[in-house]
Amino acid sequence: MTEDRFTRVLQFDDAALREAARFITSGDVVAVPTETVYGLAADATSGAAVARIYQAKQRPGFNPLIVHVADLAQARAIGEIGSIAQSLVEEFWPGPLTLVVPLRVDAAIANAATAGLTTVALRMSSHRAMQALLHATGKPLAAPSANISGALSPTRAAHVLQSLGGRIPLIVDDGATQGGIESTIVAVDGGAIRLLRAGPVEVAGSVVVTDGAIEAPGQLAAHYAPTKPLRLDAAVADPNEWMIGFGAVAGDATLSATGDLREAGARLFDLLHRADASDRAKIAVASIPEYGIGNAINDRLRRAALGAAAAIA
Ligand code: TXA
Ligand code: MG
Repeated sequence: MTEDRFTRVLQFDDAALREAARFITSGDVVAVPTETVYGLAADATSGAAVARIYQAKQRPGFNPLIVHVADLAQARAIGEIGSIAQSLVEEFWPGPLTLVVPLRVDAAIANAATAGLTTVALRMSSHRAMQALLHATGKPLAAPSANISGALSPTRAAHVLQSLGGRIPLIVDDGATQGGIESTIVAVDGGAIRLLRAGPVEVAGSVVVTDGAIEAPGQLAAHYAPTKPLRLDAAVADPNEWMIGFGAVAGDATLSATGDLREAGARLFDLLHRADASDRAKIAVASIPEYGIGNAINDRLRRAALGAAAAIA
């Protein structure tokens, strides 16, 4: 039922917002931008609506979704926000930080949204379109990235259309996203803060999980995959490679000519999409420094390289 649908793309305005809210209220899905990547949103309180997200993305049912909230009161009705989570909320919300906290037993969230876990991932986006949709519907919105499961995340409406066109009814287009890298995810349970996914913001005191357990079920080694082989830390492109540059390495297009990591993060998925669509058989990427957002960029690039290898194997 989610296949073979006509996908409309509407520029963000009052009419588009009304249309988007109508789909959400009727239990359907809508793609909408956040400050990181475009999300595929549905009413998190409806099992049938959440099921449509999994169906449209072909996402495995064991991989839980991020629940987007309009304000702290809505977050508190869903998850246990203790004092540490509260201080992170004050520092980073609205913004690209997702908090995994214990799910309240009385939370009105569909089981499928958390994949049956006793924790829930909560996020308050700063993007006007996501905020407007949350306010217009009055519902918490489950919203993973708006791409077929395992594929590159979308930073433009055109990327969503390419991946999910024909499977969803509406994309709200509000231009390229500013952040470009999916939100930082930390788990807060008791006193510890564990980093589950590196992202645009760094959380002081967060501990990287090193025991090999997949704490964020979506953090599979191979993820964010282009369809072509991807070579990392490249200095010079081979003739059959489309090269993504950084700093002194110019490439066919650059993440940032000045070596600015924030700019590089914002452009990462856009250039991976372009490289994947180019007339060359392979992709090469210049070396990116391992600090700040560079950690998140390298995390995505390593998964993309593994994912491409898995797709080819
Ligand atoms: O920037 C973002 O976070 C974007 C925008 C649309 O909000 N969303 C996004 O969602 O990247 P998604 O589904 O592509 O990635 C969410 C990650 C997955 O790896 C999932 O396994 C993890 O969050 N996750 C969700 N709920 C969790 C939970 N209760 N415990 C641990 N990990 C969880
Ligand atoms: Mg994703």
